[in-house]
Amino acid sequence: MRNLGMKVFAVIVALSMVSVLAYAAATAPDKVTLAAKNGAVTLDHKKHSTMTGVTCKTCHHTMTGATPDKKCSECHTAQADGKKLALKDAMHKTCKECHVKLKKGPSTKCAECHKK
Ligand code: HEC
Ligand code: HEC
Ligand code: HEC
Ligand code: HEC
Repeated sequence: MRNLGMKVFAVIVALSMVSVLAYAAATAPDKVTLAAKNGAVTLDHKKHSTMTGVTCKTCHHTMTGATPDKKCSECHTAQADGKKLALKDAMHKTCKECHVKLKKGPSTKCAECHKK
């Protein structure tokens, strides 16, 4: 009896985890941590998404619906044809150009973004 109760409980926990994951995939995250050899970069996604004059498309420039259909890394692969910017360059361009333009946020000091 007790065993069955535990099994039912485990199934309920598993089901609710599935729905949490599905929800997380469709909702803009508060923070995003991007792995990098020279130290992971944490983007305060919520703060950046709610800045005046910024839309989702400022960064997710190919987005058409309410959420991005692809991650930057899915398109920005360093390809031999040289047509698509490598991920690192796509990110640096997006992030640093705005910081330089607004004179706010890190641009020249690597360690202000890359934390070991
Ligand atoms: C505004 C924040 C920011 C600043 C400042 C910055 N970076 Fe980055 N950097 C990133 C992001 C974001 C990525 C992409 C990480 C990812 O998508 O996994 C990245 C990626 C990289 C990568 C690729 C790492 C890998 O594992 O492929 C290197 C190398 C790098 N940066 C070096 C530098 C250096 C050197 C500086 C200083 C001259 C610098 N970065 C300054 C945000 C920054
Ligand atoms: C300052 C740049 C920036 C802005 C503005 C921005 N995002 Fe993002 N967002 C990112 C980066 C970088 C990532 C992580 C890399 C990736 O998943 O492509 C990300 C990740 C996400 C993810 C998770 C993707 C996944 O599969 O894990 C969602 C969902 C998302 N953003 C939605 C939004 C929505 C909706 C808006 C507008 C309200 C928005 N973003 C605004 C940069 C931004
Ligand atoms: C559906 C595919 C796709 C996705 C997803 C995507 N990009 Fe791009 N991106 C492209 C293509 C195609 C170009 C133009 C060709 C090239 O790379 O030179 C481009 C160009 C760029 C450029 C150069 C723009 C210019 O003015 O030269 C930047 C910067 C950039 N992307 C950043 C990002 C970032 C950051 C993300 C994620 C938040 C992202 N991209 C997501 C396909 C994509
Ligand atoms: C549209 C302009 C814009 C873009 C694009 C942008 N930022 Fe920022 N960022 C800002 C501003 C403005 C601040 C200063 C916020 C403050 O002082 O409260 C900032 C601050 C930061 C900080 C300092 C800590 C914090 O959250 O205040 C980090 C780290 C950072 N940005 C990382 C990134 C990364 C990584 C990207 C690219 C994926 C990015 N930013 C893209 C405008 C931008």
